[in-house]
Formats: sequence, structure tokens, C-alpha cells
Amino acid sequence: MFSPTLLFGILYASGLCAWSSPVVSTDYDSSQLVLTSGPAQPQREYENGELPPEENTFGWVDPRLNGGRLLDYTTRRLGEPMNVIISSLSDPFILTESGLHIYAKSIGFSEECMGLHYGNIHEADLGDGLGRKPEQYLARQEYFPIGGTCWESVRGGHHFRAWHQNGTIANSGAWFIGASQEEDSSKNHKIIPNGYNLGRDYLVEQATAGSHWQGVWWKAEVEWRAGLLERGKRGVNHGIEQDGLVAILTVYRL
Ligand SMILES: *[C@@H]1O[C@H](CO)[C@@H](O)[C@H](O)[C@H]1NC(C)=O
Repeated sequence: MFSPTLLFGILYASGLCAWSSPVVSTDYDSSQLVLTSGPAQPQREYENGELPPEENTFGWVDPRLNGGRLLDYTTRRLGEPMNVIISSLSDPFILTESGLHIYAKSIGFSEECMGLHYGNIHEADLGDGLGRKPEQYLARQEYFPIGGTCWESVRGGHHFRAWHQNGTIANSGAWFIGASQEEDSSKNHKIIPNGYNLGRDYLVEQATAGSHWQGVWWKAEVEWRAGLLERGKRGVNHGIEQDGLVAILTVYRL
């Protein structure tokens, strides 16, 4: 996939990218002086030093560099794909826990109903030095309480889990998200056929369409990444195939 990051990697590798020193073009008269510089520096220094150019991503670190993986640990062996990353180049508010909750509401998800937790807790290793850690957030589409009971929307079943990449080895601040679509709750929260791709695409659609919450507006840009997740169903919970694509979202505040 030909991404800006890859392009940067190529420029970087071939020594063409003099991005620390702005280049002043003098091809124009002084009234048209053009000041150009390279892309913005990554927000954080990584403690394990400079990453190889192809991994020199902005706003998140490939978990595989430090023993992590893009499948979570649903059981000891099987996992569900973390198929969305909210890069830390996003609105800093969304990178906080309470900010993510509010952003989730703006795109049609709510917190688990009244403290009830359905399904088991998944773990994930984001290669940030913290090893496997339990999910830090679980959001479900359109939950609403009626008479002390929590009802899922009939149409519902979209949900996502989120983990924060903030251990010292890869302290990017990005959110890694596993999104999927479930059958209705009578079927005990089974993922529907193609439910990983559908769940991801639903979240991406909501985010890129733009959303708002109490006067704050956001809109996401998406970059699709192949190669982080293996395509298919090997090691995937419920044996459901997925296409291996990860959506990298950068959520801008408008
Ligand atoms: C890492 O992120 C989690 C989830 O937002 C948070 O609970 C935790 O305090 C953070 N750790 C550090 C060291 O900031």
C-alpha cells in the first residue's frame, strides 16, 4: 500500500528528507518567498530509539515490534482482530479515557448499560512493554435502559473494545480498537458471519461521516493498512474470516 508514511520512509531512507532544516526557496522575489519544511515531527520520542523507516509511523507503533500482535486474546490462543487504530495525531481530548467515551457516544455507541458487563474480558498486547492487559473500554451501539433492564437496539449489535498504547516502550497514546458486529443478545453475543469486517466498517463510516456531542464536532480521516493482521481466520475467535485490513483513523476536531 502506498501511504504517506511509506513515502516518507523512502525519502528518509534515500537521505532526501531534510526535514529538520526548513528549505527556503529563492526562486521567487522576496514578496513570494516560499518556506517549506518536511512533515511534522512525531509527537513523542520512543524509548527504544529510532524505529526503522517502514515502521516509523506517526501516531501509533506497530505492536509486533515488541512482541505484541493485532489479534487480542479472547481465549488463551484465539483472538479478535484489533481492526481500528485511533492515531495519537487525533484531537488530544479523544486520547483521554473520558474523551474516548464521549467520542464513542457521538458516533452512536454508549457505555455498557448500568455497570453490567456482558461477555468475557479480552486482553491485548500492544507491544508497549505492559504485556497483556485487559480491555480498558467496551462500548455498545444504542443501549437504553427500560424499567431497570438494559435493552439493545433490535438493529444493534455493533460494539468495540479499546486498549491504550501507553506503556513506556511504545508510549504513542493511540487507541487500539477491536470492532465487531454481534447477533442479538438472545444468541449470547456471537459474532455474525463477516462480523469483524462489518463492525470495523460501521465504526469507520460513522467516524468519517463526522459527529458531534454537545457542540463539539469531529471528523475522521482514514488510511487503510494491510499487513498488520493476517488475512483469513487463523487464530481468529469463532473462526470468522476477516480481510486483514486495519483502519487508521485520525480524528480531527472541527
Ligand atoms: C494508560 O491508559 C489507561 C487507559 O486510558 C489508563 O488507565 C492508565 O492510567 C494509563 N497509564 C499511564 C501510565 O498513563
